[in-house]
Amino acid sequence: MSGRSGGVLLRGRVLSPVDPASAEAFEDGFVEIGSAGTIAGVGAWREELAPRVAIDVGRALILPAFVDAHVHLPQLPVRARYGDPLLTWLARHVYPAEAAFADPEHAARESARFFGAVAAAGTGTAAVFATVHAEATHRAFEAAAASGLRVVMGNVLMDREAPSELLAPAAGGVRATLDLAERWEGAAGDRLHVAVTPRFAPACSSELLAAAGEAARAAGLRVQTHLSESADEMEAVRRLFPGMPDYLAVYERAGLAGERSIFAHSIHLGAGEFQRIARAGATVACCPSSNAFLGSGAFPLATARETGVEIGLGSDVGAGPQLSLLDAARHLSYLDRPAPAEILYRATLGGARALDLDGTTGRLAPGMAADLLLLEPPSDATGDPLELFVQCVFRQPETRVRALFVDGALVYGSLEPRG
Ligand code: GUN
Ligand code: ZN
Repeated sequence: MSGRSGGVLLRGRVLSPVDPASAEAFEDGFVEIGSAGTIAGVGAWREELAPRVAIDVGRALILPAFVDAHVHLPQLPVRARYGDPLLTWLARHVYPAEAAFADPEHAARESARFFGAVAAAGTGTAAVFATVHAEATHRAFEAAAASGLRVVMGNVLMDREAPSELLAPAAGGVRATLDLAERWEGAAGDRLHVAVTPRFAPACSSELLAAAGEAARAAGLRVQTHLSESADEMEAVRRLFPGMPDYLAVYERAGLAGERSIFAHSIHLGAGEFQRIARAGATVACCPSSNAFLGSGAFPLATARETGVEIGLGSDVGAGPQLSLLDAARHLSYLDRPAPAEILYRATLGGARALDLDGTTGRLAPGMAADLLLLEPPSDATGDPLELFVQCVFRQPETRVRALFVDGALVYGSLEPRG
């Protein structure tokens, strides 16, 4: 395919988000991948395109690749461990799985497996929590580079309230993040990015949070963390940060609520807190399948949406049982009956905006990276492209990820030319 001069011309059912309320669709459309890996053209199929060699993808939808705004690399093997609330679940299942990443060989193997599974789910971009280990996180970046995916990732910062083998003193953890940034920020053709990644306030001392905030500011890095997910977590924050007015204020005080900050979950918040997040230019990664699985609560989608805060969608594997954003999107739809266009938007452009990558990915338009998902709906599905997409969301087991492109390169699946 890469040998084709002038790029690749795909013909199929094209669907792209515009905003949370609308999408653009071409029943018989095309997307042209330019030789630089960007989208050279998109629109309705025209007969003057016919002399060009087109790959007819048949019934498949051509969508922007999914953007997973929140996921944990080491937690693939501990999905679907049902029954405990967040803090107990972390202690029983997650921390032992993460401790195994002290072995860099284990980290390399699991990282390759993880990014392979992310691509197979149709996700082209992911915001990833690695583990506390610097060497393991380097291995994870190597695997991310090899996968061809677009990845925002960081070593997890935590210095208390967890098993001692998972704790790193504040200075060492932040230094490791800055070292990772020197090597990986903007690497692999600008597909890789390093995020300052404090796990969540209960596992971080005030000194660690302040150092993380200062490093993010000084190096201009993204920040990702968890906020207001569960009752037991919020109780821990009240105990560990006495005198703070609320959970979000802990991050604000540390300089961690900035223009490139992504707050996962953010369930138990009111309009005032969403407004503070939005005013800071920070964003939310909504993780509805995870919230349902752990019984953490229901994200207040209507309240959040009204404040204008940017909201992406996260699988939150391993609390979310599946990497597929179709599963997360199905759970999103149960929250507040968002319109089909919003479901598509949250899984693509909303996530890209949340990660400050919307100049690159998340929608199909000339000049954007050719991050494309070819999604094959169930065989008896009917309707226009947006209706077909919704059927994929609710009939995920019968839906097939046929191919995934990132920067115009095929990173998963295959195409059988038919035209
Ligand atoms: N809060 C802190 N760490 C985690 C984690 O690994 N998963 C989830 N769902 N919430 C967290
Ligand atoms: Zn998480």
